[in-house]
Amino acid sequence: MRAVDLIAKKRDGMSLTSDEITWFIDAYTAGNLPDYQAAAFLMAVCIRGMEREEIVALTLAMAHSGEVLKLSDILGGYAIDKHSSGGVGDKTTLVVLPLVASCGVPVAKMSGRGLGFSGGTLDKLESIAGYDVNLTTERFEALAKQNGIVLSGQTAQLAPADGKLYALRDVTATVPSLPLIASSIMSKKIAAGANGIVLDVKMGEGAFMTNLEDARQLARMMVEIGVDVGRDMIAVISDMNQPLGEAIGNALEVAEAIETLNGGGPMDFRAHCLEVAGYMLRLAGQGKKWTEPEAVRELLVSHLDGGQALAKFRLLVEAQGGDVRMVDDPSRLPQARFVETVNADQQGYIANVAALEVAVAAFELGAGREKKGDAIDLAVGIKVHVKVGDQTEAGAKLATIYANDAVKIATAREHIVQAIKFTDAPVDPLPLFYDVIDGN
Ligand code: URA
Repeated sequence: MRAVDLIAKKRDGMSLTSDEITWFIDAYTAGNLPDYQAAAFLMAVCIRGMEREEIVALTLAMAHSGEVLKLSDILGGYAIDKHSSGGVGDKTTLVVLPLVASCGVPVAKMSGRGLGFSGGTLDKLESIAGYDVNLTTERFEALAKQNGIVLSGQTAQLAPADGKLYALRDVTATVPSLPLIASSIMSKKIAAGANGIVLDVKMGEGAFMTNLEDARQLARMMVEIGVDVGRDMIAVISDMNQPLGEAIGNALEVAEAIETLNGGGPMDFRAHCLEVAGYMLRLAGQGKKWTEPEAVRELLVSHLDGGQALAKFRLLVEAQGGDVRMVDDPSRLPQARFVETVNADQQGYIANVAALEVAVAAFELGAGREKKGDAIDLAVGIKVHVKVGDQTEAGAKLATIYANDAVKIATAREHIVQAIKFTDAPVDPLPLFYDVIDGN
């Protein structure tokens, strides 16, 4: 086969065979194709799209470009995983993993770092002193077996083709292609070895997908890939027009996750976690257990309010070398030097809390990184205390800024003022979820 022929075929809008796609990905991963041919291939896919069979072939080729874990063998049963397409204040993994594990379903998850305005679970976890996110595959498997919970960074051996292609997509304007996004996400999920996967596809101005139709299409595509390769799949489409919960920023989000694991936390975030964890249990029950949504909800609520989920989180932190005193007393987490509130200068109803603008505020305080490898400040960020639909008085506390550099406070304040819009007429709250796409 010749790469140039496959690029031409896709350029002309024809479908590639599985063998052709696998050959291309294998050759590129092995270093036998130059970046410029891979870039041309990506652009052809971006413009021409792919059929369902092609997307599955691309996903499998990337998944098998490195090591593929057999999690169900390691865990001795059904392995469940979750993935979020990324959003502002999204610390869901920190709550749902221990919550699901506390119900007796083992969870072993590999997460990523944040880039740009979207945060990453690994950075959040590193707010806990000593927490080791760089586990070897052997240690990852051993902890999964021993504790029924492990949460670490993705090893370099997991879907390396995706790593190489993603770096090219970043600089060739080919990131937004739905087949490329779907295959990229699913290749890592499949290589990580779960039997069942719950996808949390975010929709809104603070997400990759800014409208419901695109979010549905991406969710459907990923569900189809999973189903075609024998996985149990559920995708939820959740709101990302306003931040999830109150906290945006690494240590602040860990503290909010601990509060939620302790039976408290912001109502929207708690409700979101209960829903996602419920779907994880539903898949893990394989149609025999956890089939009654109300009973599942009651079980999960009892584990948040009764301390079982928090105990699992504590075990996770301890096993990965983290300082459990920070879990027992979150005021020991990294703290910002300056704490300032933003108050309402008018009364009214909250019409908008623009997620992206709030993310920019947190980013400018130092909570996010511009490019891979940049240092971030774990202590800084924003807490937004209002939601769309809330009625507020003049002078009410809208947000709190946590900064380590006094000079940056004014800019953060400007972004927050820009983000939060008022109106005189009552406004409906935003829904937490827009749709559910069930692979069954
Ligand atoms: N996350 C991924 O892993 N890949 C994409 O292409 C987009 C988001």
